[in-house]
Amino acid sequence: MLAVAILAAGKGTRMKSKLPKVLHPLGSKSLVERAIESCNTVKPDRTLVIIGYEGDKIENAINHLPEVEFVEQKEQLGTGHAIMQLVPYLEDFTGDLIVLNGDVPLLRPETIEELVKTHQKHNNSATLLTAHLPKPKGYGRVFCDANNLVTQIVEDRDCNDAQKQNHRINAGVYCFHWQSLKEALPKLTTNNDQQEYYLTEVVDFLNPVMALDVPDHSEISGINDRCQLAVAYDILQARVKEAWMKAGVTMIDPDSITIDETVQLGMDVTIEPQTHLRGNTVIGAGCKIGPGCLIDNSIIEDNSTVLYSVISDSKVSTNTKIGPYAHLRGGVELGENCRVGNFVEIKKSSIGNKTNIAHLSYIGDATLGNQVNIGAGTITANYDGVNKHPTIIGDRTKTGSNSVFVAPVTIGKDVTVGAGSVITHDVPNDSLAIARGKQRVIEGWKKS
Ligand code: UD1
Ligand code: CA
Repeated sequence: MLAVAILAAGKGTRMKSKLPKVLHPLGSKSLVERAIESCNTVKPDRTLVIIGYEGDKIENAINHLPEVEFVEQKEQLGTGHAIMQLVPYLEDFTGDLIVLNGDVPLLRPETIEELVKTHQKHNNSATLLTAHLPKPKGYGRVFCDANNLVTQIVEDRDCNDAQKQNHRINAGVYCFHWQSLKEALPKLTTNNDQQEYYLTEVVDFLNPVMALDVPDHSEISGINDRCQLAVAYDILQARVKEAWMKAGVTMIDPDSITIDETVQLGMDVTIEPQTHLRGNTVIGAGCKIGPGCLIDNSIIEDNSTVLYSVISDSKVSTNTKIGPYAHLRGGVELGENCRVGNFVEIKKSSIGNKTNIAHLSYIGDATLGNQVNIGAGTITANYDGVNKHPTIIGDRTKTGSNSVFVAPVTIGKDVTVGAGSVITHDVPNDSLAIARGKQRVIEGWKKS
């Protein structure tokens, strides 16, 4: 049996925020969600989140996660005191307990697996993650004997000068034999600088306690302020981008690119600078995205290109060229071999194959067939001030520059619409529609 306890009762004063620290987002998920997820692969039987400051906000934000229990720590009297609150919840629990801080979002699931494996293999009372930090300030220092067994943990503020020279730090990630820990908890004192109950003091009462080094210390970075939050985001992004580059994606200037972990990329995708891919976006093989794109929750099929454009909640089929400066939003479905760009906005519309909307248009609530050519400046006037109305344009129809379609309106197939027309009535197949004032020329006219 395995249980997980996440410490999340503290306020996180240094964030200077109304939001509890552990709810701050890091990419697409909050810090505490990430802490919980790092334990997913060891499949805990129970997950207990210890809450205090703004506990109801934390509960609301994460109670969609399966089988999370909340334990209240009314007063925050230290990390040891937080763990004491678990006793009534784990009275009969006989397995191991993983403890981690809610503000440690970058732990790899494999590291937690390794922690549990080491703990169980050696039959330890406690096993904890340690790292050798170049700048260990602020962290508890871990002292071990020759067999890597922990003799003492001293908080930074309680260290003397000699102890401060030890750069081996406590990551705040532990695996305990729960029944042994439970017996040690009443022995904790508050004999320290903060006069708190420190969880770390249990090593004085447990045996054996083993330290396990984490080679990549970026994993155990705790977030205490927004500078560290930004650094954590960089670390996370570096991991995501490295994995995609190894999987066959080219990135030009990766530092200027951001990619959510939820995004999927095909082989031979090229991502150019200043591009941001978010949500459940899927980019097909051979696509070229960027420079300068924001694509959120959208599918771009194979071999399409997107340049300086914004696409959200939409789907683009293969071999289509988008941009520069296009905006697709709200459920656009674009066919194959299309061209859309140069200041074109498309909203909630379905566009057939080989259709071009190349310059200065707004297409909203519209259905366009195949091989349609939308002339420069064509607008669907879809909104009458109260309701939105549809525009339908048939296959191979060509709209002249600056035409306006006052919806609801249906234009047939193989229609030609004269430039500058304001179309208010349906147009049948194979016709020419012109709706504009006739040109008058008054010769010899002069201002008197
Ligand atoms: C703790 C460790 C330190 C370790 C560091 C790693 C102790 C005494 N020290 O120090 O050895 O190097 O983590 O990051 O454990 N919390 C509660 N209730 C409380 C107090 C804290 O839930 O009463 C929660 C906080 O919200 C936070 C976590 O416990 O998520 C850690 O508390 P914090 O005060 O930040 O401990 P550190 O000083 O970082
Ligand atoms: Ca901390």
